[in-house]
Amino acid sequence: MKGSDGFVQAYNAQAAVDATVQVIVAHERRAMTHSIALSFEDGVTRFVDARPGETVADAAYRLGINIPLDCRDGACGTCKCRVESGAYDGGSYIEDALTEAEAATGLALACQARPKSDLVVAIPAASTACKTRPQAFETTRRGVERLSATSLAFTLDRPAGLAFLPGQYVNLGVPGTDLHRSYSFSSVPGADRLDFLVRDIPDGLMSGWLRAAQPGTAMAFTGPTGSFYLRNVTRPLLFLAGGTGLAPFLSMLGRLAETDCTQPVRLVYGVTNDADLVGLDALDAYAAKLPGFAYVTTVAAEGSAHPRRGYVTAHVDPAWLNGGDVDVYLCGPPPMVDAVRGRLAADGVTPAAFHTEKFSPSAPAQPGRLAA
Ligand SMILES: Cc1cc2nc3c(=O)[nH]c(=O)nc-3n(C[C@H](O)[C@H](O)[C@H](O)COP(=O)(O)OP(=O)(O)OC[C@H]3O[C@@H](n4cnc5c(N)ncnc54)[C@H](O)[C@@H]3O)c2cc1C
Ligand code: FES
Repeated sequence: MKGSDGFVQAYNAQAAVDATVQVIVAHERRAMTHSIALSFEDGVTRFVDARPGETVADAAYRLGINIPLDCRDGACGTCKCRVESGAYDGGSYIEDALTEAEAATGLALACQARPKSDLVVAIPAASTACKTRPQAFETTRRGVERLSATSLAFTLDRPAGLAFLPGQYVNLGVPGTDLHRSYSFSSVPGADRLDFLVRDIPDGLMSGWLRAAQPGTAMAFTGPTGSFYLRNVTRPLLFLAGGTGLAPFLSMLGRLAETDCTQPVRLVYGVTNDADLVGLDALDAYAAKLPGFAYVTTVAAEGSAHPRRGYVTAHVDPAWLNGGDVDVYLCGPPPMVDAVRGRLAADGVTPAAFHTEKFSPSAPAQPGRLAA
């Protein structure tokens, strides 16, 4: 009996050691893999995990994503792509495939580049040409919060397997229809819930559905999508938001707050009417957390008592443009984006990088309606 007990104890001890080893191996494997966000020309983004030593092309191929390739040997340049953020080993190749000057600007060869950290890689081809497409997800609606007479916030459960870049959006199906509406995440990518900030359009299809729907309702979306995402921060940032165009900036600020960003980050947030000014608590919280972050608000409506009036361009301190050595991110309704872009160009401002997102309406505009 005693012998048998000893055997059982030894067996259990060995089983415990085996389980621990498996956990450690799995942990190390996870720690050694790097996530690669492949951002296609049509805005579709797919995430793949690169195994240790694996190239960007091989990691993509393992998931059935055929990014453009020919020689696979660093000789032809067919797989040239732009690494938007992250660290990598460029591998070996000939000058004909990738020049030193190109490599210095962040271009790389997907068949040679091996991630040394998580990467964002822009692929110069449409997702369909690479035999992939946006991922489809099903989730449930957690809740809707009225932020003001004109604005709502809503939350979805985060479906398993969803990853996105701060600033991206999804195409959310309007339940009971075959229509969808696009919404930018306002939450930070790693959060367990997905938050959105929405303009409440009185006779809007999705707006009306959100107002009436019960928590727990099933919803479906495809994504993530869009090239309006936060790049590596190497110089001061200027964020210009119009109305609910604030949403992607909340996500970006959330990401910046997780890093040790030392660059100045300025936000000018403009709305049409006082009631459109929402999300200020979140902005104040980021201002407290992020040492380089400051923001100003402005209201365009004539009758507003807001201390700052007019459009966002009127409230950009010229010092924030840093002589053009600044990355500008601009998001809002199309007329606002066009006006701000035109104003900056007329003022002779050419930022080092200029990223824009237009919240274009899906339904045709009704006569006399103003986008805000
Ligand atoms: C890439 C992208 C990201 C977007 N992200 C967001 C986001 O994060 N938050 C957000 O609120 N919206 C966002 N939008 C806009 C959003 O997709 C919808 O168009 C918007 O929410 C209206 O949907 P709805 O179904 O409520 O109204 P709809 O049924 O589409 O519209 C009803 C009527 O209202 C008009 N209309 C639509 N938008 C406006 C407006 N802003 N002002 C006045 N009239 C309008 C339409 O032209 C139509 O006549 C985004 C759009 C794009 C393209
Ligand atoms: S496929 Fe030819 S250089 Fe990469």
